[in-house]
Amino acid sequence: MLNYKTFRPLIFKSNPETAHSVLEFLCKMAPKIPYLLPFLAQKSCIEDTLLIQEIDGMRFYNPVGLAAGFDKNGTMIETLSALGFSFLEIGAVTPLPQQGNPKPRLWRHTFEESLQNAMGFNNDGTQSIASRIAEVYPFCIPLGINIGKNKVTPQEKAIEDYCALATNFQSISDYLSINISSPNTPNLRDLQNQDFLKALFLALREIYSKPIYLKISPDLGLDDILGLIEVSIKSGASGVMATNTTTDYSLVKNPQSLGGLSGKVLSSKSAEILKEIGKVYAKKTTIISVGGIFDAKEAYKRIALGANLVQVYTGLIFEGPLLAWRINQDLKELLNSEGLDNISQLVGVDL
Ligand SMILES: Cc1cc2nc3c(=O)[nH]c(=O)nc-3n(C[C@H](O)[C@H](O)[C@H](O)COP(=O)(O)O)c2cc1C
Repeated sequence: MLNYKTFRPLIFKSNPETAHSVLEFLCKMAPKIPYLLPFLAQKSCIEDTLLIQEIDGMRFYNPVGLAAGFDKNGTMIETLSALGFSFLEIGAVTPLPQQGNPKPRLWRHTFEESLQNAMGFNNDGTQSIASRIAEVYPFCIPLGINIGKNKVTPQEKAIEDYCALATNFQSISDYLSINISSPNTPNLRDLQNQDFLKALFLALREIYSKPIYLKISPDLGLDDILGLIEVSIKSGASGVMATNTTTDYSLVKNPQSLGGLSGKVLSSKSAEILKEIGKVYAKKTTIISVGGIFDAKEAYKRIALGANLVQVYTGLIFEGPLLAWRINQDLKELLNSEGLDNISQLVGVDL
């Protein structure tokens, strides 16, 4: 079996965004090759009662999902599902298509096993993405849509953008995640205030009946984070995703001066925030942990700190396409060694 890490240095010689485009091309071609996806799925998708959970009316056959930003346009859904993820988050999608920030806008910090991105919600827009998703929906695993406002939309009209997105995806998604935590759209993070979130969730609940999760930034103070989660849940949110990327550039040796950091350097910060959220909300509301998860040990730790599910992005770039399979395989062993019958028994045990 080819080992990803042996040819990773070669991949890492290319520009990161070019590498992603090549990968996207391959993922788009893969379903056209007879027997390839069933073969991949047979190798990567682990069906085991130890890992299955029912959460917010959705069935997750394992706890590992793909985080937002990897498949921004919903062009890789079939191939990604064959890699063993139990749910996929598409987007961020904005109402109108947008180009995102000027390139270069994605960098690797190879030594720190981290990425820095300033993409700025480059995406094909609701119309194209919704028609692409409508072709596969309902899908074999839950499909979430990460939604954000257009850069040109003034702050006072932001709710209209989120509501338009919720309307368009109501019948062709399993959940929404609200992105007001990206550092790459000017002033977006200013929307992380209680008044806005209350108005937003109350408005969204008039439109969208399925789960809606709030995705938070790791750069807020803890009291702010807990306050935002409380008001969001009271106003209709189904849970929280912690966290998005960080603008703490002191975490890497040679940072760029814009964008957000993800991967290993985000890991401890993301876990610390999760722990504090977990102390208040574990088992009471859905918690999805994301940020620097590269292996089963870290996934196990996050679930023990209160997460119901985890997501990965940067780990996939550094560990390769078998990451979800490997995490699930090793999680099974960890659960067995602890004598647990199902992963849900692990949620919050370390709090
Ligand atoms: C290139 C790139 C693009 C991203 N785009 C989005 C996005 O559109 N919406 C979003 O909510 N998060 C986005 N993220 C953040 C990830 O979903 C995730 O929260 C973050 O990278 C931490 O997880 P990780 O350390 O496993 O990568 C992006 C991350 C990267 C690296």
